[in-house]
Amino acid sequence: MSLLIDGIGELFTADDDGTVHYDAAIVVEAGRIAWVGHRLNRPAADEYLDLGDRAVVPGFVDSHAHLVFAGDRSGEFDARMRGEPYDGGGIRTTVGATRKASDERLRANCARLTAEMLRQGTTTVEVKSGYGLTVEDEARSLRIAREFTPETTYLGAHTVPAGVDADEYTALAAGPMLDACAPHAKWADVFCERGAFDGDQARAVLTASAKAGLGLRVHANQLTAGPGVRLAVELGAASADHCTHLTDADVDALANSATVATLLPGAEFSTRSPYPDARRLLDAGARVALATDCNPGSSYTSSMAFCIALAVREMGMTPAEALEAATAGGADALRRTDVGRVAVGARADLVVLDAPSFVHLAYRPGTPLTHAVVHGGSVVGS
Ligand code: NIG
Ligand code: FE
Repeated sequence: MSLLIDGIGELFTADDDGTVHYDAAIVVEAGRIAWVGHRLNRPAADEYLDLGDRAVVPGFVDSHAHLVFAGDRSGEFDARMRGEPYDGGGIRTTVGATRKASDERLRANCARLTAEMLRQGTTTVEVKSGYGLTVEDEARSLRIAREFTPETTYLGAHTVPAGVDADEYTALAAGPMLDACAPHAKWADVFCERGAFDGDQARAVLTASAKAGLGLRVHANQLTAGPGVRLAVELGAASADHCTHLTDADVDALANSATVATLLPGAEFSTRSPYPDARRLLDAGARVALATDCNPGSSYTSSMAFCIALAVREMGMTPAEALEAATAGGADALRRTDVGRVAVGARADLVVLDAPSFVHLAYRPGTPLTHAVVHGGSVVGS
């Protein structure tokens, strides 16, 4: 069964030539894109969908999210807006609530947030553990995450639980906890930061995780210009995430590596912090992705469009650069070639915008612009 999607006023492909096509059409077959071109050359298909000259962009790839948790921290947010700083200490509040929650409650929270994301055009999402911090609670977080996405990340080294010795906890996270979690995870991540895990501790967990067959990602340089980014590059991590406080050496290291700099402006919004300098990274030649960091503490948004708008307004990105970072950039951060681009052979993941141009994603911030979402060839909302 083939589907011809016609009447695409503007198509942003995020493919290698970064092309925007006008008056385009797409043919979908078996969940994949089988043909892309000008509508005058469109082939016949079994089914037909006319988009009435709307703009189409690739499904968003949200390559950084923490969705397995219970509770919220609106009180902490409110306190920050009255001047309290963010230091990651609130992670333990969510750990307490998550440990107490049943599997069903955690599953329902993931279902709610992934559905919210899909409605807004996110067709690929990465989900981390990190609010369990015991062998059992981390493993169950990943088992639940894997019900929703293949992009699961072991983040046992998110913070040191209260009353536990940091080096002993690091040994647990690099040993028995990793052994229990690795079968359910594709990636491993560490919060490398003052007050969480230092460079040596992060290295211990990351190298053990690589030995266990996991790909690497790092929460790096969020609050301070620490060793996280250079460690990520040295270990060949797919992504260094946050990248808010960077030295020139960090920027050089990213620019000369295959490690993607994943920027999470929802976190700076929600912690009232200075935004990362995307312009500096792009001008140096680094690969940049945008993601939500959706979590109940530092960034409780599921909206990639909101992140695009922030990146354009606050981080020196053009609308095209920001959209590319939210689609193909996110795919690169997950080392995926089958998503994040509109190209023949790619999974048919599309966002149909109630707008004539992708520029409206940043030009009309806060406005729901999703007319329909195509996920694996199926229209999931219109
Ligand atoms: O990416 N910084 C570390 N982890 C999350 C925040 C987690 C939390 O505050 O609950 C982040 O911002
Ligand atoms: Fe995060």
